[in-house]
Order: sequence, then structure tokens, then C-alpha cells
Amino acid sequence: MMLHLKERQSKSGLTAFSVSVFHHAVVLILLTYCCEGLSQVIGPSQPVIVTVGDDIILPCHLKPATDAVGMTLEWARPDLNPRFVHVWHQHQDLQVNQHPSYKGRTSLSVEKLKHGDISLKLSKVKLSDNGKYRCYIPNMNKDSTVQLVVGAASSPVISLAGIDTSSSGVVLQCESKGWYPEPEVFWLDGEGNLLSAGSTETVRGSNDLYTVSSRVTVEKRHNNNFTCRVRQNNINQTRETHFIVPDDFFIAPRSSAASITISLVACFMCVLAVVFAVWKWRQNKTKSETQREEQRLLEESGKRKEEDYKGMVDTLKKQKQELMNQKDELKLQKEEIEKLMKEKEELFLSVEKEITDKGDKSFTGAPEYLKLKEIISGYKWSLKERLKALEKLVLNTENLLENTNQIIRTTEVEGSREPCGEKMI
Ligand SMILES: *[C@@H]1O[C@H](CO)[C@@H](O)[C@H](O)[C@H]1NC(C)=O
Ligand SMILES: *[C@@H]1O[C@H](CO)[C@@H](O)[C@H](O)[C@H]1NC(C)=O
Repeated sequence: MMLHLKERQSKSGLTAFSVSVFHHAVVLILLTYCCEGLSQVIGPSQPVIVTVGDDIILPCHLKPATDAVGMTLEWARPDLNPRFVHVWHQHQDLQVNQHPSYKGRTSLSVEKLKHGDISLKLSKVKLSDNGKYRCYIPNMNKDSTVQLVVGAASSPVISLAGIDTSSSGVVLQCESKGWYPEPEVFWLDGEGNLLSAGSTETVRGSNDLYTVSSRVTVEKRHNNNFTCRVRQNNINQTRETHFIVPDDFFIAPRSSAASITISLVACFMCVLAVVFAVWKWRQNKTKSETQREEQRLLEESGKRKEEDYKGMVDTLKKQKQELMNQKDELKLQKEEIEKLMKEKEELFLSVEKEITDKGDKSFTGAPEYLKLKEIISGYKWSLKERLKALEKLVLNTENLLENTNQIIRTTEVEGSREPCGEKMI
């Protein structure tokens, strides 16, 4: 009986224990079920934008926040093989199977993992990091994706590309190397107005980066501060450079006015020459007609012709005076430019000598110094162009002057001979 009783007691104790275990198990299962069911892996809704060379965090976290240190976590890029970017397993990083391109550039923070933050830090971002990342917890079979957009940007450089003699404008070139994706180029004047430029030239380098360049012809204005702006909207990057064109770079409007005047004078001279030729031809024709008729005509028109001659000679003389004035002015301009060139050349040489004497090699090799040299040589070139144009104008003026002189001489001779011959008849 005693034994039986003891048996019963132990039986009921066992039952109580199993009930308790069962109860706990159910609670645990329910708890796990509930929380795994509600737990979410959350990533960013917007793409993450970064520029080449920077460090970036790819956000991903558990909601509600639960300690993830003991979990297995997987960051991967499905388009790669092997796809693993970073794996966390049994409380540590698992480096086997990591894609070689990410070696040594990824990390998770244990401190953050404790609070359910499984964001991945990616250092020294490369262009090839561009893509879709998957943040995955295998035990929960939950994931989220992060789109990483990698861009590259760099500041543009403006240089002088030449002088447009037809519009007396200066041609500027803007170049910017190392962009991704392909950017847009804009030119702006000092007031921020868009300038119309030629089409943008784009070249893709072997490193997949784009080089863009654009040219614009600018005319002299109140404020010669021009801006080249390069922009890439997808990566939210804008770089710009300002450039001030010195006033002297623009071909003086005076010399273009002079060339217009000279063209007009040339035109006028042509007309004059034709009129003169026709007049002479008609006169010869008149001469060949009968003596009587000629005599009558001569008597009639003798006085008028004399006046015609005088008028023509006067006009030509005025023309000659104008040309001479113009020639003098051109010569003055030429001398001014020559003087300016000499001065600037001497100034430049003295500064260069000073630098060389100091023996500062790092300075003469610096990009700023090289750019300065480039600008100065552009300046010298523009002065030379102006000088050439002026020399041509002087030559043209001299030719016109010579022609005018000749016509004046002929006209004067004819004019003085005619009345003489008339008298002899
Ligand atoms: C040129 O213009 C830009 C803005 O358009 C300004 O920031 C810059 O200071 C100007 N440079 C000079 C020398 O005026
Ligand atoms: C773009 O950059 C500017 C300043 O750098 C910032 O204020 C703006 O929020 C950025 N926009 C986007 C969409 O990232």
C-alpha cells in the first residue's frame, strides 16, 4: 500500500513536470511565432546616393528592435557571383565566400546589432559598387533591399580657346573630367543668365567615367565673369568654375569699325572709278562725232564740265584726307598694341625670373602656375592677332590711298587739259 501510494505520488509529480514543460514550450513557440511573424526587416525607401571614394552606410534594421548579435545575417548582391558582400554568423564576420571586390571594405557594428540595426558600412566606394543590395536574415526568412547609386563628379576647368574675329568675341572652352553618370554642361554670364553654347562633347574613358567639354563664344559686356556649370541630377552633384575675361582680350570695336569704314570707302571708290570710266568713254565717243557737233557740244558744256571736274577732284581730295587720317589712327593703335605687348612680355619674364631664382620647383610645377602661363600665352596670342589685323588694315588703307592719288592725278590732268584744248580749237 505504501509503495502504491509512493508510486502514485511520483506519477502525479511527473505529470505536473510534463505539464509545466509543455506549457513552457507552447508559450515559447507562440512567442517565437508571434514575434517572428511581426518582426520586419526595414531598408530605406529611397536609393542611397554616394560619390566615388566616400564611405557610406547601407541602412537596414529590425522592427521591432531586437538583439541581432546572435543571428545569422547576410548582405548580398544577387547579380554577383559569389553574391556575398558581408556575412555575420555565430557572433562574428564570416569571410569565406565574400566577393573579392568587397574585401576589407565592409563592416557591421556589434553595438548597433544589439539594437537591431544591421546597417552595413561600405568604405572607399567604387563605381562598381553601384547596384541593388539585399539585407537578409535566413532564420526569419525576411529581407529588404537597398539601391546604391554611385556617382562621380569633378570641377570643370575653363580655358581660352581662341578669338572669333568675325564677331570680335572670345571663345572659351570648359572641360570636366571624371563624371558618372553623364552630366550636363551650362554656361552662364555674370548675371546668371544662360548663354547659348555649341553642343556638349562627351567622351567615356576606360575607367567608365565621362569627360565633357563645351565651347562658347562670348562678347564683351559690363561684367566679363563667365561661369561653366556641370550638373548631374541623379547624383545631386553640381560643380562650377568662374572665369573672368580681361577687357583687352576682346578685339577693340574701334578696329572693326575701321574695317567697316574701309570697306565702305573701297565700295565708294569702285563706284567712282566706274562713273569716271563711263564718263571718259562717253567723252571719247563724243569726240569721234562730227567736228561741228563736237564744237557745239563743247561750247555748250565747256563750263559745266569744268565744274564737274572741280567737284570730282574735291571729293577725291576729301576722300584722300579721310584715308590719311584713318591710316594715322591705325598706326597709332598698332604702336599702342606693340607697346602693350612689350610691357606685358617684360613683366611676365621678370616675374618668371623671380620665381626661377627662388628655385621653387613646386610652384612652377603647380597647376595654378601652369594655368596662369596658359592664360598669359592666350593673352599674347590675342594681342598678336589684333596686331596682324591692324597691319592688314594699314596695308589696305595704303593701297586705297595710292589708288585715290592716281585717280586725282588723272582727273586733274584731264581737267586742266580739256579747257586748254578747247581754247586751241
Ligand atoms: C564671378 O561670379 C561668381 C558668381 O556668378 C562669384 O561668386 C564670383 O565671386 C565672381 N568673381 C569675381 C572676381 O567677381
Ligand atoms: C542635393 O544636395 C543639396 C545640397 O548639397 C541638398 O540640400 C539636397 O537635399 C540634396 N537633394 C537630394 C535629393 O539629395
